[in-house]
Amino acid sequence: MATPTAFFEGQFVPLEQANINIMTHAFNYGTAVFEGVRGNWNEEQGELYLFKVREHIQRIRLSAKIMRMEIKYTDDELCGFVQQVAERSGYREDVYIRPMVYKASKVVGVRMHNLEDDFLLFVTPFGAYLDPDAGARVGTSSWRRVDDTEIPARAKVTGLYVNNAMAKTEANLNGFDEAVMLNQDGHVSEGSGENILMIRNGVIVSPSPSDNILEGITLDTVLMLAKEHLGLSVERRSIDRSELYIADEVFMTGTAAHVTPLPEVDRVPVGNGRPGPVATQIQDLYFKMITGRLPQYMDWLTPVFAGAKVTAQR
Ligand SMILES: Cc1ncc(COP(=O)(O)O)c(C=O)c1O
Repeated sequence: MATPTAFFEGQFVPLEQANINIMTHAFNYGTAVFEGVRGNWNEEQGELYLFKVREHIQRIRLSAKIMRMEIKYTDDELCGFVQQVAERSGYREDVYIRPMVYKASKVVGVRMHNLEDDFLLFVTPFGAYLDPDAGARVGTSSWRRVDDTEIPARAKVTGLYVNNAMAKTEANLNGFDEAVMLNQDGHVSEGSGENILMIRNGVIVSPSPSDNILEGITLDTVLMLAKEHLGLSVERRSIDRSELYIADEVFMTGTAAHVTPLPEVDRVPVGNGRPGPVATQIQDLYFKMITGRLPQYMDWLTPVFAGAKVTAQR
């Protein structure tokens, strides 16, 4: 049976006891940075595999640096907390783990400095975010992506996600599954919670890191798979909206969305209007990788329950 557990104010507690005071700075001003780590359940092995925990911890540290936040734990400690929160919660299904560094002071005042920072973690069951088989039908948002000169999108800042939420809600209310956001200069940036890629003339193309995107961990993994397993060359450059209409394939990547084909952009069919061969091959490899079925990539996985046994034996 699952026992939902959080790491809050320096200790593991039952999730229902992990409550933020209403004066907490992060609650009032969106002054927190966060991560999402996936746990992928492998039924045959009876194991929950966490994917690239260390990479997520390293990214939250970079987000915190941009936001002038201190993390009082080492990377090893943080990775350990992530494994332990999953193990103590005991879910035997796909999960999502949320590490967060937040301005914990209970004070009124808009600023980033002279405030106390703290770290928390929780875990929740989490199935498919977008339909991996049919793919997602996306629409270009009328909300532009925040610029690095406003709130840096490479930092996963809670307050910044209002921008993403506006785009996602607009897309859903207009009958789309997901939004594509454009930069202030009109180039393609990303989805509300995913990076975007296209295939044109046999090359896999994704917006450059300076196009106001989150520097995605899944994107990085997928570009490696495309190079190493499919022999594709990779380009990082600005993408025009109209290029998505004439691409051979378009798809999105993300911790929540895994690899999701986009058979339609702005109601224009991409290719033949069905998930394309590159997206489906990458999807298959990625799924095998994150569930512990590709032995050469086991280093990127943290087995939650085997990990617990090793810790207990010490
Ligand atoms: C805005 C945004 N872009 C891209 C991504 C994908 O990043 P990753 O693959 O590291 O989860 C996410 C998810 O975290 C996101 O929120």
